[in-house]
This record gives sequence, structure tokens and C-alpha cells, in this order.
Amino acid sequence: MKKALLILSATVCMASCAEKSSPEAEMNKFVDELMSQMTLEEKVGQLNLLSMWFDVTGPRMSEDVEQKVKDGLVGGVFNFWTPNAVRKLQDMILTQTRLKIPLLVGYDVIHGHRTIYPIPLGLAATWDTDLIERIAAAVADEASADGLHWTFSPMVDLARDPRWGRVCEGAGEDPYLGAEIAKAMVRGYQQGDLSKQNTIMACVKHFALYGAAEGGRDYNTIDMSRLRMYNEYLPPYEAAVKAGASSVMTSFNEIDGVPATGNQWLLTDLLRRQWGFKGLVVTDWTAIYEMEDHGVGDKAKVTELSINAGVDMDMVSEYMIAELPALVTSGRVKEATVDAACRRILEAKYRLGLFTDPYRGVSEERAQAQMLSPEKLDLCKEAAVKSIVLLKNERQTLPLDASKTIAFIGPLVKNQRNLVGSWSAAGDWSQAVTLWDAVERKFPNGKFLYAQGCHLVESATIRRNTDPNGNVIDDTPPQQLLAEAVRTAKGADVVVAVLGDAYDMSGEAASRSNIDLLDHQKTLLKALKETGKPVVLALMNGRPLTLQWEHDNIDAILETWYAGTRAGEAIADILFGNANPSGKITMTFPRSVGQIPIYYNHKNTGRPFSNDSKFTTKYIDMENTPLYPFGYGLSYTQFTYSGVQLSDSTLADNGYLTASVTLTNSGDRAGEEIVQLYIRDLVGSITRPVKELKGFQKVALKPGESKQVSFKITPELLKFYNADLKWSAESGDFLAFIGGNSDTDNKAKFTLQ
Ligand code: NOJ
Repeated sequence: MKKALLILSATVCMASCAEKSSPEAEMNKFVDELMSQMTLEEKVGQLNLLSMWFDVTGPRMSEDVEQKVKDGLVGGVFNFWTPNAVRKLQDMILTQTRLKIPLLVGYDVIHGHRTIYPIPLGLAATWDTDLIERIAAAVADEASADGLHWTFSPMVDLARDPRWGRVCEGAGEDPYLGAEIAKAMVRGYQQGDLSKQNTIMACVKHFALYGAAEGGRDYNTIDMSRLRMYNEYLPPYEAAVKAGASSVMTSFNEIDGVPATGNQWLLTDLLRRQWGFKGLVVTDWTAIYEMEDHGVGDKAKVTELSINAGVDMDMVSEYMIAELPALVTSGRVKEATVDAACRRILEAKYRLGLFTDPYRGVSEERAQAQMLSPEKLDLCKEAAVKSIVLLKNERQTLPLDASKTIAFIGPLVKNQRNLVGSWSAAGDWSQAVTLWDAVERKFPNGKFLYAQGCHLVESATIRRNTDPNGNVIDDTPPQQLLAEAVRTAKGADVVVAVLGDAYDMSGEAASRSNIDLLDHQKTLLKALKETGKPVVLALMNGRPLTLQWEHDNIDAILETWYAGTRAGEAIADILFGNANPSGKITMTFPRSVGQIPIYYNHKNTGRPFSNDSKFTTKYIDMENTPLYPFGYGLSYTQFTYSGVQLSDSTLADNGYLTASVTLTNSGDRAGEEIVQLYIRDLVGSITRPVKELKGFQKVALKPGESKQVSFKITPELLKFYNADLKWSAESGDFLAFIGGNSDTDNKAKFTLQ
């Protein structure tokens, strides 16, 4: 392959300078030399990120991308992959542009590229950061072989409002768990060395606070105190940045009245100065353009605001390319600011090794070997099994006895498309294994019955607001489907109802005001219940739902999320007891939408709930407690916890103590338990949450086996941001709780001296 002169000379310089200078100094020298040849327009061109082909998630489209690439007006593209396509585009750069600067190629590889793993909220329910890191590495393997350098992941927005559709893309409501998962994903994608061909650059998003949209309505306004930001919402972003994430994406929302994309405090003071971030900042889709609608200025003004705030790359707006040259000429933007942004983009390309090999990682052979490889499919199954949460299991309805006649009923039993969820990248849903296919393969002689029961989505409003092609319904009358289902259920010993949401009822622009199971599906479930047969509800959906009726009336409930390419096999293994459920929810499941926001790490108030007085914090028509608390999930076995033992009742400010329990598998099956440590700071200079997760361990136990599980508690673990935003621990009394979910009252007290 013919390589550009510039690239050859860069290679020569890199080789000959090797002994003399550090890699950082070599990079600086290379970028200095390159930038000294660039015109202002060429530098601005590097800041331009355009969308190819499809996956349009906003109000504008990128047009004439190829021509712009040839004209040197583009620094990167996204929504684009395959070795052939990427090679062609880089060839175009090498043969038809003056400076031959390779393009960055990005894509939303959120939970898999070709092999699709469970949605991120499901992956979080595994609480298995090692598994999540292995998955991110496997994702990078596939994506890089397909020509990608950059994923717009991890999404680390803390979310306490399940009405928000994008809760499916993140790790849930907890800052500590969210931070651990964020770090694991960055490690997995980047492997600590972006020059390795099988890595991709991570992009932490959406910076910041995007998950706190008022009313759970996507793109909505946010207003939040600094204390809440620092103590609750910012830790996952900071952890990802400090784990070495090379890029950050701005969010659509405003912060303190200034859109994040034009917010200098956020992007420069906090991100770069306080956290020391050295990578590149990209906007979200058309976020600069959208600042006009936020009402902070015209096209020139919002462009000026964004670059001066610290944005380096403009996704799809094309405002930088249009406005920056004149803004520099008029002195509203310093050329040095454009230089700094351009430098960061060139540095990213350099670190990825694109100047030495613009076709980095791209190879048909690698692609062939990597895509949907047996190892990746196994990883997918492992993750799917571990992500499934058993929410209820009365009278040991589960696991099922395969010798019985079992009716599988519902529109999701045989549906492949929905198994891979939203943001399924280049994943081919037709490869996904349905529950029906899985059980038929697993038990060729099984007595399994099937009925569709209802259409997946009947509401015309929801159908109009989701995928117009995906949620088409045929003209079978609903009454006919229902009658068939009831007939089928009556002929079975047990019913498995596979219900839930269409995949695009979660994700971007998919907020719901009502998070019940869809009405017509509930009608079906009630009819199944009335047959008197034991009913198992296997849910597929991307957010906590309000399941009070289901909890009160259905024998067993499994939350399977959208579990990915091998979803059906994983669900079958759990249903029939070949695997024991171990997932635990990372977002609180409310009883009613009226309780939202509801999260475990809330403040106590001056009138904590009490049954003894009307004048305490409560609803008159409903309990405060959630249906299922954060950290909750059942197993086919039982785990019993001893009381909490502390190694000492006082903690010196330079010491540590251990908090331990003996965990026993008191049931008759092997199983895994996610043991959780929570801390309560009883008195502080500011009010403190009633509990905060501070540690977790996944413990495997055989029937009858016991293990001691210990957590180290250091003063560092007790620190928080005080009213001066100072990170410190305060002496006084604390409670350490250890249990199987956030509702545990298993505790011991200690004092920090
Ligand atoms: C908009 C979404 O908010 C963001 O998460 C995504 O990465 C971009 N579109 C690019 O597709």
C-alpha cells in the first residue's frame, strides 16, 4: 500500500528520535511539525466530525461528506465501518488531500459491535467488573477489526428516574458502582495502550449530569447544587477520566443555566484543571447548533462559546467549520484556542498510531476471525446469564421441570429483533437466539406449547413515537390472540409469559410517563393468571418497571433486560435451573411512578418516615419503600448472613479496620451472592445519605458452604465533599452495613477518630 510522504517522514522521525526523547516529546515534535504546515482552515477542518450513512439521532444530517473529506474539511467520521469502506476513505485522504491526515472513525459501540452483549443496565446487574472489562476488550477487538478507532462509550450518567429512556445505556443509580464499571470499561476498550491494534478510544459521556433531566424527559433541563454534583453525579465521570479515557462527550443539558457544550466551568475548570484531563472533548450530536435553541446566542456566538469553553470537536453541527475562521479574524476566538483543539485531535490520532498506519487494525482476515467468534459468543452467554435478575420466586415455581408441559406465551417468545436492545451497533439481530429456539434445541423431546398472546405494542401513540417499521402489527384481532393464549395455557402445567417493551421503547428519545407493563400485555397476563396455572413472567425491557400487580399476583418474575445475541439460551438455562440467577438490580424498582425520583442513598430529612405520626415524610396513598430496592435479586438457593464483625470499633485517621460477615449458602444449590457494604455517616457538617455503597464482592458458595467476607474500611472511603467542596472525612460515628441488598439492617457501629 502506498503511504503518504508525511507518514513516511513521521515514521523515520519516530524511529530515529526513539533513544533521544520520551514518547510524549516525540509526539509533540511530530504534531508541532505537522501543525506548522497547516492553514487555519485545515486546522478547523480537523475539528469537524461528520456522520456517514445512517443512525441519525438529531435534527440535521451531514451532507456531501466525501467531498468535504477530499477538501480537507473533516477530521473524523462516524456511523461508518467495515474494512473495505474505512480503507477507501483513508485512501481518499492519502491520495487526494494536501496533508494526508488520517480520519478518526467512530461509532456508538455501546454493548457490542457485531456480537451484542446485554444492555449496559443488564451488564451492571452482574456487578462483575472483571467480566465487564473482558467484554469491553472483546468489543474493541471486533470494532477495531472493522475499521473503528473510537467508541462513544462508556455512558456513565447516573440515573434515578426510570422514566428516562436512556437508563438502559448506563449502570444505574449509584456513584460508587457506576465509577467501578466506568473504569472497567475504559480499561477494556483502551488496554492502557491505544497503539495496540485491537483497542479503541473510549469516550466518556454525557458530560455532565445528563441523567438528571427533569421529569425523566430526554433532553430536558437540569438544575442541581454543586454538592449533589460533586458527591453524587460526578464520581463516575471523574473515575473514567482518571482511568485514562482519551475523550469526553458533552451533554445536551444545561448546567447552572449554561449549556454543557458552552460551559467553561465544566469543560475547562473542572475537567481539565481540577481533574487533569488531557484528551479531546467532542460535542454530542449537533449540540453546538442546539445552543441557539437554548437561547444563548446566534450561530457565531454559540460557536465562540463552545470553543472557548473547551470543546475540541464539533459533532454534526458544522458550526466550527462555518464560523471559526471569521471568529479568529475578528479576535473573538484566539488562534491559539483553535490550535489547542486541533492539537488534541492530532494527538489522539497519533496515540492511535494512525500516522504510522492509517489502516490501523483494518483487515478482512482479522474481521473474519473476530466477528461473532465462538469465544465472543460464549462471553455473551456468560454475561447474559449473570445479568438476569430473579425478582420473585414463590413456592419454588422456578426452576422449571422440563418433563412438564410448558406453555410459552407472549409476543417476545419468538422475537429476535428485540433481544439485542437499542444501540445494537452493527449487530445483526437475525443472529440472536430466541427463547423458543433455545428451549426447542435444549429439549428436543420437550412438551412445549406456544401462543403469541398479543401484539408487542398496540398503543398507537407509542407506535407513532418509536420505530415506524419495527413495531408494525399484523391484522390478527387482539381478541383472537388472547383466546388462543388462554386455550394454550389451559393445556399446560405451567405458563411462561414472555412480555415487556419493544427495544426502542428504551434508549434515546424514549422517555415514558407510565412505566407499567403495557396495558394490553397486562390484560393477557391477567387472563393467564385466571387459568389457575402457575405463571412465570420473563420480562424483556430496558428500565425498571412498576410491577406491583405482577408482584402481588404472579408466581415468579425474571428480569432479563435485552440480553443480547445469546439471550434465549441464557434465559432457558436460568428457567430450567442449569444456571442459578445471581444478578442484582442497580436501579430501584418503584411501586408507582408517583414515587420517582426514588433511590436508596437518599437523605434522612428532619422528619424521617414513621408509622406513629402523620407529620413525617410520606405519601398518604402509598408506602415510601420501593417494590425492589437497589442491590436486590434472588437466587434458587438461600444465603444467610452472620452479624457484622468489626476488627476494631475505632478507626485512626491513618489506619483501617475490617468489617466482616460469615456468608452461608443455606440452600441446596450452588450459587453466587453479591455481598454489599454500605456506610452511613451519622453526623456531618452537611447532611449525609442514609446509606452509601462502598464495596461489593461476588462470592460463589456450594450448598452448605460458608465463607468469611471482609471489607477494608479506610478513612479515604469515608470522605465526601463538604460545603466548601473540600474532599475530607469527618471524625465521628459511622454505621457499616453488610447484606444482600441496600435494604439490609445488618450493621455495626464504629468511630473515626
Ligand atoms: C446522540 C447521543 O446522545 C449520543 O449518546 C451518541 O453518541 C451520539 N448521538 C452519536 O450517535
